[in-house]
Amino acid sequence: MKVGIDLIHFATADYYLGLDTFAAEKHIDVEKFTIGIGQEKMSIAPPDEDVVSLAAKAAAPILRQIDTNEISAVLFATETGVDQSKSAGVFLHGLLGLPNRCRVVEFKHACYAGAAALQMATTMIRANSKEKVLVIAADIAKYDVDTSGEATQGCGAVAMLITESPRIIAIEAGSGYYTDDVMDFWRPNNRTTALVDGKYSTKVYLNSLKHAWEHFTEQTNRTFNDIDYFCYHIPFTKMAEKAHKTLIKKTGADVTQDQFEAQTLASQIYNRIVGNSYSASLFVSFISLLDNNRQSVEGKRISFFSYGSGCVAEFFTGIMQSGYEKVLMTQEHQRKIAQRKPLSYQEYLDFYKQADSVIENIVYPLTNKGPYRLAGIKDHKRYYEKTN
Ligand code: HMG
Repeated sequence: MKVGIDLIHFATADYYLGLDTFAAEKHIDVEKFTIGIGQEKMSIAPPDEDVVSLAAKAAAPILRQIDTNEISAVLFATETGVDQSKSAGVFLHGLLGLPNRCRVVEFKHACYAGAAALQMATTMIRANSKEKVLVIAADIAKYDVDTSGEATQGCGAVAMLITESPRIIAIEAGSGYYTDDVMDFWRPNNRTTALVDGKYSTKVYLNSLKHAWEHFTEQTNRTFNDIDYFCYHIPFTKMAEKAHKTLIKKTGADVTQDQFEAQTLASQIYNRIVGNSYSASLFVSFISLLDNNRQSVEGKRISFFSYGSGCVAEFFTGIMQSGYEKVLMTQEHQRKIAQRKPLSYQEYLDFYKQADSVIENIVYPLTNKGPYRLAGIKDHKRYYEKTN
């Protein structure tokens, strides 16, 4: 049975901070960002945007194309949870009017949770082919101001419909895993911003890639040359470049510069202008490949490397299905990204300070252009609304 991604759609916030603006404010050479870490813009969420509204924007165009009563589960991956008890997926379920006969649960392990949710969904469908699972990966990357992480913020949500006989990509059985209890990036319960040991985190990422690859090859007997395109978790695009170089060195593959670029560059285009979207980032990279690759990727094998700090990693692959182009939402992705409004550094700081989910009894100003937004918090309850 083929199981995988039948439809996929991505949403981000309506605003961004340019790293040129950021560099000017901080008196840092802009090339440290555009070349050094390979980032140009970071999507910035206004106060009435959170992972639930982002997820609703990502999922709505998928739900318009199917009978929503067929959704049997919502698996919501996030490390920007809005409640310690209630799943963000249940808020989403209500906002989108999904059927009551549905299982909903939140997945967490840093940036890895999106891949975990996708794999769990494929397992559910292999057990019961009637299941149609909505997988959401949504996050808002937020670090303290004036720390090394500040330039690597961003936000986004990817919604994926996981089914039998998928129209986009069939996920192949056989994965490589790696888990190690390390403190490279974490966010204690009392904080809204993550703490990170930045340089150490990049080393742990690359080490995890090597281990996950070893396990993957043992599980599948596949080699580097069996893979046509490589999608990585992208906290910043230079990280994907470092990852691909590491994998080439590890496998001893003979890759020209042109091949290197063909294997990786299309999958970095969106991430470069959206920033880190944590659990969504790997799937933004996949969408970027599908929307931007010059040649058709029909029949090609795509690899996915998911890395979640702390750390859990997984390497797996999928085969692109024939006719996949017909169901892509490329124009919608490109339009939404292009329509974002630039922020001055001060406007970014204002959003940054207001977007604090613990403020009690607040009615949010309408800054998010919709169609879904967080309207307010009253008596510790979050209220969402559809704006059009
Ligand atoms: P930093 O101290 O700001 O920057 O930290 P740097 O001094 O290391 O410079 C970065 C690169 O720019 C260097 O290149 C410089 O040489 C170069 P590299 O040595 O890396 O090849 N550079 C320049 N290039 C051109 N012109 C210039 C110039 N100046 C410098 N003028 C760091 C960078 C990534 C550590 C920081 O941004 C950070 O802490 N980011 C947050 C942590 C992070 O993203 N880690 C990634 C791995 S962990 C992960 O992916 C998981 C995560 O997504 C969370 C989760 O799982 O939930 C983060």
